[in-house]
Amino acid sequence: MDYLEFFDLKEDPFRLTPDPYYFYPSESHNEALSSFNYIVEQKEGFFMCVGDLGTGKTTLLNTFLNTEKWKDRAGIALVLTPRLSPEEFLLTILEDLNVKVKNTNKNEIIKAFRDFLIENSMIGRRIIIIVDEAQNLPNETLEELRLLSNLETEKEKLLQIVLIGQPELRDRLLSDSLKQLNQRITVRATLRPLTINETSDYINYRLVKAGKGTVIFEEKTKKLIHKLSKGIPRLINLVSSRAMMAAYLDMSRYVRKRHVMYAVKHVSDSFIKTTRRIVTFPRIIVYSLMVCLIVAALIVMNRMKEHDPASLSNKRQASIVERRAPDAENTTYNAQRTTHNAVVAVDAANVRAKPSLNSETIGSVSKETVLEIIDEFTETTGKKWYKVKMPDGKEGWIADKTVKIANGS
Ligand SMILES: Nc1ncnc2c1ncn2[C@@H]1O[C@H](COP(=O)(O)OP(=O)(O)O)[C@@H](O)[C@H]1O
Ligand SMILES: [Mg+2]
Repeated sequence: MDYLEFFDLKEDPFRLTPDPYYFYPSESHNEALSSFNYIVEQKEGFFMCVGDLGTGKTTLLNTFLNTEKWKDRAGIALVLTPRLSPEEFLLTILEDLNVKVKNTNKNEIIKAFRDFLIENSMIGRRIIIIVDEAQNLPNETLEELRLLSNLETEKEKLLQIVLIGQPELRDRLLSDSLKQLNQRITVRATLRPLTINETSDYINYRLVKAGKGTVIFEEKTKKLIHKLSKGIPRLINLVSSRAMMAAYLDMSRYVRKRHVMYAVKHVSDSFIKTTRRIVTFPRIIVYSLMVCLIVAALIVMNRMKEHDPASLSNKRQASIVERRAPDAENTTYNAQRTTHNAVVAVDAANVRAKPSLNSETIGSVSKETVLEIIDEFTETTGKKWYKVKMPDGKEGWIADKTVKIANGS
């Protein structure tokens, strides 16, 4: 007998798929779904929904797509891999919406798209562009979206745009370069983690949807799951599913706290591991240990700095935490490169806060400006960046395509 049979369930109630069948309308999920429907109904221009990883953004999106009301009354372009240039993005949308364009001249494309939007508007059909993981859209593509949102008649917007992403999307839109786009967003929603009561309801709700069965999560078990998962649905699912498995191995219909603790030991998720430590030890001990570790690390780093002439370069490399660690070859190259300069080879080159086209522009340098190279970084795509010191002393990243390398003095 497998565990589903044992609990008399149709399927695993806690599968990690963004399945609209299981959509639980917590307060914030419900608000977000209403806002989503509202902007389409009212032909508002822009909607942005943010939430941390695993809070249910894609589930919300799928729930909207599953809404009977819009199934035949809307044309939807859905972008799930948003690392696209403005041109790629535009062509992807047109392809999704089945808009035929005769040539690739940008003005012609926009004209064809506008005609398509007007035709649809006349028959009351909504056209919606939805981007999931929109925090990955390059700035240039976000700007293109803003231009598209200008397509309107005197009476109404012709297009609804929905951006769904992690909270860094909201933060990026606060930068100067994206200020205009930020002002266009008329409706916003944030998906919050579930409260303790919602977590308990959520677990029951998913169990009922999976066939109810005979399994029972005790109230104190659900409280512990909430504490460990911090109310994030993805983590609630992970722990609940494994805890049920542990109860099954115990031949118990009741999922108890000990099953949750067993589950946590077997969930390979660093977040869960972190929370487990906090639960196991009193908080004060954890914080004291952390302070000791930080102090010890600082002492070791200082010692290394005194003894290792290359440590400065290594430290700079380590600061690019969001990207892959540079390889050994790269690090050596850095140490030798400190005497090289980059000379700007285009009329105006952007300098960015991080080595990525997605990163905010912090300055612009004109042709022939000589910049001291202090670091470099290669993206997994092979695109290379130099960290440079600008004439005003600020430091930032410049794409290697926009500069020539020269020997420094
Ligand atoms: N409101 C909800 N109702 C039901 N399940 C949810 C809800 N929110 C999240 N989940 C579950 O949590 C997991 C992660 O959700 P997902 O939509 O992929 O999160 P995100 O896109 O924000 O990273 C999925 O297994 C999903 O079923
Ligand atoms: Mg998602």
